[in-house]
Amino acid sequence: MKKKLFIKTYGCQMNVYDSIKMKELLDPFGFESTDDMNYADMVIINTCHIREKASEKLYSELGRVKKIKDQKLTNTGSDMIIAVAGCVAQAEGEEIFTRAPYVDIIVGPQSYHTLPELVAKLARSEKHLIDLDFIEEEKFDNLPKEYSDQGVSAFISIQEGCDKFCTFCVVPYTRGPEFSRSPEEIYREAMSLVAKGAKEIHLLGQNVNAYHGKTLNSNGDGVLASDIIFSLADLIRHVSSIKGLERIRYITSHPKDMSDDLINIHGQIDQLMPFLHLPVQSGSDKILKMMNRKHTRAEYFAIIEKLRLVRPDIALSSDFIVGFPGETDEDFADTMDLVKRVRYTQCYSFKYSPRPGTPAAIKEQVPEAIKTRRLEILQKELSKQQLEFNESCVGKILPVLFQKDGKYDNHITGKTPYMQSAYVENADKSLLGQVVNVKITKALAISVTGEIV
Ligand code: SAH
Ligand code: SF4
Ligand code: F3S
Repeated sequence: MKKKLFIKTYGCQMNVYDSIKMKELLDPFGFESTDDMNYADMVIINTCHIREKASEKLYSELGRVKKIKDQKLTNTGSDMIIAVAGCVAQAEGEEIFTRAPYVDIIVGPQSYHTLPELVAKLARSEKHLIDLDFIEEEKFDNLPKEYSDQGVSAFISIQEGCDKFCTFCVVPYTRGPEFSRSPEEIYREAMSLVAKGAKEIHLLGQNVNAYHGKTLNSNGDGVLASDIIFSLADLIRHVSSIKGLERIRYITSHPKDMSDDLINIHGQIDQLMPFLHLPVQSGSDKILKMMNRKHTRAEYFAIIEKLRLVRPDIALSSDFIVGFPGETDEDFADTMDLVKRVRYTQCYSFKYSPRPGTPAAIKEQVPEAIKTRRLEILQKELSKQQLEFNESCVGKILPVLFQKDGKYDNHITGKTPYMQSAYVENADKSLLGQVVNVKITKALAISVTGEIV
């Protein structure tokens, strides 16, 4: 009988990808996935440290897992391995064993490839196993080369870590320095995912457009000349040659690394979708500087202008932080002004959350009530823009990649090229997994609906 593995994933797409890899790693060691923690022989909590009381949330979650573990032991006599992975694991380290001694394994985002070995050690009665090493090459070299089926829309991490050190952000500390995988390795993974049915691939990285992967000097499949550095634009061109791959997306980009070549391919490569998530965080030059974002608002506008020149219909998205230490009413007004000028189709916005160990956390903080007020104002405008964009699509015929069943039994849902959610009622379920033209008839707050044409 196979053992059951339950993974709970928090945070960004990179964590989603890592959870897929953890499953692939443990599969040859007799673990299969379950959706029910009550029957799990192993539970992995893959954590995120980006905002607010991340550690507190982890400990309360662990408390719940411990109860289930105890119950399972009483009822069935079989034990449960508890592992903590991800960015909180990296940040908290051994402290997790002190506060939650029933945790068996701690692994960081760069060292989870050693999970099978740690599980084996546990079976030999070793206790409290921890691996928080930071050797990226080693991780990717040790991940399974058999890629599991991710369905029609698949993720590939191509780049990890970050050297930018924005003053609010924990990522450079939890994910380590920037590292890019080789184009050949990514190509092989993409080929395999497409062979298994993927029609869309999301190329992932904390700083995906800082990608600079060196080609391998090997004789594997898809071999390129050795020792050439591929930019993200080169990689997209290369991957777009894969037959059957209909859609390519990349996330998350930093304005500083938005090269002209990358901008221009938005007008050249059909599979590259007309959508870009380009976080700006603030519209105030003063705050951008204090955040160490390394660009001005004028430079951001210039990128948007160039993008719209090569791809007039490109849909734009961003992340915003309100209430960063030192943000005045004028600074916030600059953010609102930027939003109104750019016009976004969907965005994420957050109140600044002081993260231990980051430079901005020790600055004088903006009062909570002001943060709340600013977030409300910003979100109202962003929702308005999203609805306006959705309304502008009514009457158009858009190709939708249908991915799953919708909210109701007779709905199927998917994404338009603009990363907009779209659903259709009473559609044939056989359309799931296909790109189908839909005439948009109605706009809603966060989606559109229509009829198959
Ligand atoms: N690498 C990406 C963002 C990664 S984190 C970039 O450079 O844009 C995802 C988002 O979380 C960020 O864009 C930011 O808006 C938000 N974020 C990160 N740290 C935060 C903090 N301390 N408080 C509030 N929001 C934060
Ligand atoms: Fe964090 Fe800035 Fe790096 Fe993005 S670029 S991951 S916000 S430090
Ligand atoms: Fe969170 Fe780590 Fe991703 S902190 S956002 S899981 S890189």
